[in-house]
Amino acid sequence: MNLNIAVLSGDGIGPEVTAEAQKVLDAVADRFGHTFNYSQALVGAVAIDECNNPLPDETLELCKASQAILFGAIGHPKYDNNPDAKIRPEQGLLKLRKELGLFTNIRPVQAFDALISKSPLKKDIIQGTDLVIYRELTGGIYFGEKTLSEDGTVASDLCEYSKPEIERVAHLAFKAAQHRRKKLTLVDKANVLETSRLWRKVVTAISKQYPDVELDFLFVDNAAMQVILAPSQFDVILTENMFGDIISDECSVIGGSIGLLASASVGSGTALFEPIHGSYPQATGKNIANPLASILSAAMLLEHFNLITEAKTVRDAVNRAISEGVVTVDLNKETNFSTSQVGDVVASFIQKNKEVLNY
Ligand code: IPM
Ligand code: MN
Repeated sequence: MNLNIAVLSGDGIGPEVTAEAQKVLDAVADRFGHTFNYSQALVGAVAIDECNNPLPDETLELCKASQAILFGAIGHPKYDNNPDAKIRPEQGLLKLRKELGLFTNIRPVQAFDALISKSPLKKDIIQGTDLVIYRELTGGIYFGEKTLSEDGTVASDLCEYSKPEIERVAHLAFKAAQHRRKKLTLVDKANVLETSRLWRKVVTAISKQYPDVELDFLFVDNAAMQVILAPSQFDVILTENMFGDIISDECSVIGGSIGLLASASVGSGTALFEPIHGSYPQATGKNIANPLASILSAAMLLEHFNLITEAKTVRDAVNRAISEGVVTVDLNKETNFSTSQVGDVVASFIQKNKEVLNY
């Protein structure tokens, strides 16, 4: 297969972890006889520095012309600490999601057996966790009208959802549940929010088309507690944009590190694959960040193109690296392998005719 992949590595540790994902994709291409062509483009704070625009036109054009996007991370402390900044790195990612119609963000959460001791949660709580979050990605409070009064003392963000916006992500979530354990939990705040009540109505109506899937509902405050108390009860979690953002970071605690969680953003055209973690500015350039979330996002990219054996090969290689203790400092303070060492080892497990690295 020939794939044109836009690489938007972005800010902070983005370039470091993305380079490892590319290394792993190259190993896959080599082993299975595919051709992956990469084109780099600017996004985020680096794009603001160069072109005063977090999503330059060339970047957007490249993304539209590509079959997939491998995304790194976005964000810089100089903007985080300046609420008055009008141009912000995050706008680049938000605009990209909107322009490409990436209305669904898929975030799988699993407990790796070899890492169970790394989680702050007890073993019997996290064992057997295998859930996936379907987060709506182009609507809700992220994209509603924003206002700030002239005197700067009153602000508002509108949370708006329409029936079609809810339906399209819900269908994907139900279809996913049909191929999994056939359970879907809608997370909302229907006791308070009108948008949540609309979500309940629309999702309940759609559920009639998926009679084999059991649907239940959970208020988001309770869900925040349940994912930590008893995460193995969940199969597919469907939720709106901001709740999904928050719950998925929380779920990263289950696996022991946010550096393990991958995601795919899909919609009408080009899909985007990115780790759920941020730009981790403190680690920038130190070769210490965990590349596994980015590598696992590359596995999701392969799955998206139906390269199932290839994706499984990447996952097996990641599992093997983890179980052999080849992990970065976030997962093991004693051995602390570097970002690039972890990538090298995972790639070496995949490449044919290549000696497995000695480590
Ligand atoms: C994420 C990130 C983004 C979000 C930021 C960088 C805009 O936190 O992908 O989860 O909030 O969606
Ligand atoms: Mn987030």
